[in-house]
Amino acid sequence: MITSASNVARAEPICGMDAWLPVPARIEHIDQENFNTYTFRLRIIDDAIRRMYRWAPGQFNMLYVPGVGEAAISISSDPDEPRVLEHTVRVVGSVTRGILDTGVGGVIGLRGPFGVGWPVGNEIEGKDIVMVCGGIGLAPMRPMVYYLMKNRDRYRRVILLFGCRTPEDRIYIEELAEWEADGRIDLLVTVDNASGDWAGPVGVVTNLLRRVKVNANQSAVLVCGPRVLNRAAAWQFLQLHVPRSHVFVSLERNMNCGFGRCGHCQYGAKFVCRDGPVFRFSDIADIFAKEEI
Ligand SMILES: Cc1cc2nc3c(=O)[nH]c(=O)nc-3n(C[C@H](O)[C@H](O)[C@H](O)COP(=O)(O)OP(=O)(O)OC[C@H]3O[C@@H](n4cnc5c(N)ncnc54)[C@H](O)[C@@H]3O)c2cc1C
Ligand code: FES
Repeated sequence: MITSASNVARAEPICGMDAWLPVPARIEHIDQENFNTYTFRLRIIDDAIRRMYRWAPGQFNMLYVPGVGEAAISISSDPDEPRVLEHTVRVVGSVTRGILDTGVGGVIGLRGPFGVGWPVGNEIEGKDIVMVCGGIGLAPMRPMVYYLMKNRDRYRRVILLFGCRTPEDRIYIEELAEWEADGRIDLLVTVDNASGDWAGPVGVVTNLLRRVKVNANQSAVLVCGPRVLNRAAAWQFLQLHVPRSHVFVSLERNMNCGFGRCGHCQYGAKFVCRDGPVFRFSDIADIFAKEEI
């Protein structure tokens, strides 16, 4: 059961294990999402560890390809089914290519779960929830969508705004259609450049804000995308008078240990791996304002 993301154990070894030590996980299934993005379903091989494994929306694992290295990858599946572990990976370099090359049936290493994820429970209950995602940023948000759909009566409106470069760049295409048909969330998808038979909105994802009326004091805003989107969206919500403490942003930094030991992911006085990746905007506003786009 999920309580609050900020209650999630963070820097200590997971499930009593050594947090430095990857556990073997088998790739059970791979779905291709778009030209360079794949969703991998993993199964932790050790029965006892698999049974103990719990995580919260917005947390990540360090995935390890022997002989290649490790990368931080968000968990993108349903937290109510913690033994089904999905990770949606954009293949950009050696580790992500290595995960893909390992293939179905192959074994990679996994450490985690790490970090503080999205707020759930008391912190945001009773509010309108506005989720804003760009590209692969929908992957860390997908567990939150599952959570909100299952606990729909605890929230007012639930809005998901998703943008990507072209219609072909969308991930979870079938699921997006299901969410739209289901009606429990208001889903709006936009693309920067229309192609094929795309008849939906065209333009950056923040343009979609014109189509939804944000009730500033009643809303919690969750943002996950490339840095430029995070900045644009956060500032735009502040201009709409959403309090800083109601805006949450998921950040990316180069990771090494993943649990606050090595200093690789330093962000001002914070570590993204341990204090984030999801931050309350009021806690990072100063450094966020100084960062270059
Ligand atoms: C908390 C957290 C969660 C993350 N979750 C995910 C996730 O769910 N799915 C996912 O695919 N990635 C995710 N990432 C990003 C992922 O960790 C990096 O992309 C990682 O560097 C990939 O390792 P690599 O060895 O394959 O590529 P690298 O060798 O590190 O990078 C190769 C090249 O790609 C460029 N590059 C690196 N990262 C990106 C990027 N994100 N977009 C575009 N170009 C890039 C680099 O500048 C470099 O030129 C997450 C990162 C963090 C910190
Ligand atoms: S990755 Fe080591 S402190 Fe964050």
